[in-house]
Amino acid sequence: MKILVAYASAHGTTGEVAEFISSTLAVYGADAIHKSVESVESVKEYDAFVLGTAIHEGIWLRNMLLFIDKFGAELAQKPVYFFVSCIRIVEADGYEHVMKNYMDTKTLEKLKVKNVNAFGGAIQLNEIDWNERWTLGLRYDGTNLQSRLNADYRDWYAIGAWTTSIAKDLNIKPVTSP
Ligand SMILES: Cc1cc2nc3c(=O)[nH]c(=O)nc-3n(C[C@H](O)[C@H](O)[C@H](O)COP(=O)(O)O)c2cc1C
Repeated sequence: MKILVAYASAHGTTGEVAEFISSTLAVYGADAIHKSVESVESVKEYDAFVLGTAIHEGIWLRNMLLFIDKFGAELAQKPVYFFVSCIRIVEADGYEHVMKNYMDTKTLEKLKVKNVNAFGGAIQLNEIDWNERWTLGLRYDGTNLQSRLNADYRDWYAIGAWTTSIAKDLNIKPVTSP
């Protein structure tokens, strides 16, 4: 089974999550590859998709929306799984807030997404320019932003568990030696 893990990432950390998901799916026996959404030229050759985007200003990165505009009709013909990575999730009501406010339900329905999840991301102040600092400072919809900076909230165990559930859902059989 050929699986594309396509990600939209501004600073690379969502790309690393996508790489981890694709390597884990490969351990289960899938022919999985991770690619940035900008670099995908065709989706015809894949049997299933995992899509993931970072969150800026409470919404998905624009490149993910462009990717879905371009390939949405084809994606919807096959199993699609979707995740976001962000920092609001690490607050007390974070998961509920993210699932309620950061998910574009219409688009997810259009893609007939089978399962949606949200994970903590990572944020290093020295990686983001002044424009982004302003945006983050003004538009972050949580509390105590300063204390959340310069930290990596990626929970590899949770990401691995979700990936395992995808492998099961797709009925991927581990490759066994004869
Ligand atoms: C300009 C900017 C705006 C952001 N806005 C939000 C936000 O509204 N809510 C949130 O939870 N995280 C927000 N984040 C945090 C990112 O979603 C998080 O750091 C993510 O892991 C970044 O992924 P990337 O390294 O793949 O770009 C923002 C980050 C930046 C740089």
